Amino acid sequence: MRQDLPDPAATDAFAALLGAVLPADTAGWTLLLEGELGAGKSTFARALIRSFGHEGAVPSPTYTLVEPYDLSGRIVYHVDLYWVAEEEELRYLGWTDLEDGFRLVEWPDRAPGLAGTADLRLSLDYAGSGRAANLEGLSERGRALVDVLANTQSKD
Ligand SMILES: Nc1ncnc2c1ncn2[C@@H]1O[C@H](COP(=O)(O)OP(=O)(O)OP(=O)(O)O)[C@@H](O)[C@H]1O
Ligand SMILES: [Mg+2]
Repeated sequence: MRQDLPDPAATDAFAALLGAVLPADTAGWTLLLEGELGAGKSTFARALIRSFGHEGAVPSPTYTLVEPYDLSGRIVYHVDLYWVAEEEELRYLGWTDLEDGFRLVEWPDRAPGLAGTADLRLSLDYAGSGRAANLEGLSERGRALVDVLANTQSKD
């Protein structure tokens, strides 16, 4: 589904909308956040994490690679692969240790293999002074979720 995001508040609102339709148990889910530098990947991730009840800061994982959250039982891993040059490095990062949580991954193109096991892909593009989003389901459960979201939107 496509969504116009004319300003950061629209990105926040779209993230909150996704947060509201996700199941309570997102362990093992993966959302890929694609888009060039400054496209709004972190803005979306921050708003999604806040929609799960997080009230503090959402620091960038650019240098730590992974920032974990435990939000009343929902484990979220905010991952940034910007500095990952080779897919192999995911092993050192302990990717398989993150299976108990919901993985939000910025710069997933650094590890092309991820697309095969991910559930959702959000692509953000520059559009004038705002952004345009395309949300796509990659797995069966991901596609079902995008259908629910698209229906919610078209009834507005
Ligand atoms: N829908 C939007 N319209 C206009 N500006 C936006 C929108 N969403 C985010 N921004 C702004 O774009 C800037 C970059 O956002 P952000 O840091 O989220 O991008 P990013 O894709 O994570 O960047 P990086 O590639 O460096 O990780 C911020 O100033 C943010 O407020
Ligand atoms: Mg970012």
